[in-house]
Amino acid sequence: MAKTTQKLSVGILGATGMVGQRFITLLENHPWFEVRAVAASRSSAGKTYAEAVKGRWKYPTPIPSSVQDLIVYSAPDDVEKIVNHVDFVFSAIEMDKHAIQTLEELYASRGVPVVSNNSAHRWTADVPMILPEVNASHLAMIPIQQKNRGWKTGFIVVKPNCSVQSYIPALEALKRFGPQKVIVSTLQAISGAGKTFETMPEILDNVIPYIGGEEEKSEKEPMKIWGSIVKGKFKLATAPKISATCIRVPVADGHMASVAVSFKTKPTRDAILKAWRTYKSPLSGLGLPSAPEKFLTYFEEDNRPQTKLDRDIGRGMGVSVGRLREDPILGWKFISLSHNTIRGAAGGAVLGAELLKAKGYLKAR
Ligand SMILES: NC(=O)c1ccc[n+]([C@@H]2O[C@H](COP(=O)([O-])OP(=O)(O)OC[C@H]3O[C@@H](n4cnc5c(N)ncnc54)[C@H](OP(=O)(O)O)[C@@H]3O)[C@@H](O)[C@H]2O)c1
Repeated sequence: MAKTTQKLSVGILGATGMVGQRFITLLENHPWFEVRAVAASRSSAGKTYAEAVKGRWKYPTPIPSSVQDLIVYSAPDDVEKIVNHVDFVFSAIEMDKHAIQTLEELYASRGVPVVSNNSAHRWTADVPMILPEVNASHLAMIPIQQKNRGWKTGFIVVKPNCSVQSYIPALEALKRFGPQKVIVSTLQAISGAGKTFETMPEILDNVIPYIGGEEEKSEKEPMKIWGSIVKGKFKLATAPKISATCIRVPVADGHMASVAVSFKTKPTRDAILKAWRTYKSPLSGLGLPSAPEKFLTYFEEDNRPQTKLDRDIGRGMGVSVGRLREDPILGWKFISLSHNTIRGAAGGAVLGAELLKAKGYLKAR
């Protein structure tokens, strides 16, 4: 493919939605990636990107000038045109599960790596679900997937659900103490449902104690993330057991988690704080542009982390933790927080793509 820059050319499927728009903002001036194709549903196709998102651009910064005039493709109909423009795609499409699986497989079969936000392929046997700081080793499944499918350059990698990214990072740093049981309640922002206060007025002065499918994802996905690859197959982790309650709260962005945890051997308070404070991201040294300088930040103040004050820590890619205290039943409890549409969605996928490039899985086609 003729290239005008050294950057990899990227397409965004679902570019007009909430997560797609977040991709657009995060990729503006990205040092490694350049948006060359935007795609959405047939109702947006044929319009310029600026026309397609007119009246529904969700962010305070303007639409980047580099994408305003791109003509929006139809993600299902214009596959050939898109694959000719890009080295890989991010997928942030909202369709039914089977349609998303089929579409992502179509792009991968045409030689294009797919880094997906969708849940559709999270439980596909040969698709890695990557939280870059925790299970980069699972990228070893990519050549196995390509062999299984007969794909030469294409593959599919997914990122986990946004809720788990608010508490898995804090628990990951405590793995050496052997977490056994986790009871977590998540307080989740409305942007996680693709909503704003204008489009979800029923959340004002309200709390909704149900998010369809979220509790199952919050309990099961960590088992794949913490699992291992044995003889070419994922073996799920068996501990810790997780019980999750997921609640929608009147917050624009940021998922908070209230976590209680038991350990094989109960660590001291100092040992836990030291583990969080000294946690060194395995990505440090790779020079990934979106990796936060500090993955975990512990706050001593009793009233932190707060969603509004702390969700943007590390440009929305950091995870904040606080309120470590003894739990009379499980041993320890704490609060943790991450930005759901940055760390939990588009930012996590961009970091995943940077990791893929650093490890040689993403290249100019
Ligand atoms: N919001 C979050 O925090 C979050 C976090 C993690 C994962 N996710 C996942 O990311 C995906 C996108 O979420 P979102 O909140 O951005 O949704 P959204 O705001 O509803 O956007 C959906 C996108 O999909 C496109 N689309 C819808 N039907 C289509 C079709 N038949 N063919 C092609 N494109 C179609 C839309 O295009 P039009 O504009 O043309 O309709 C739009 O670009 C979902 O699967 C969601 O579960 C979201």
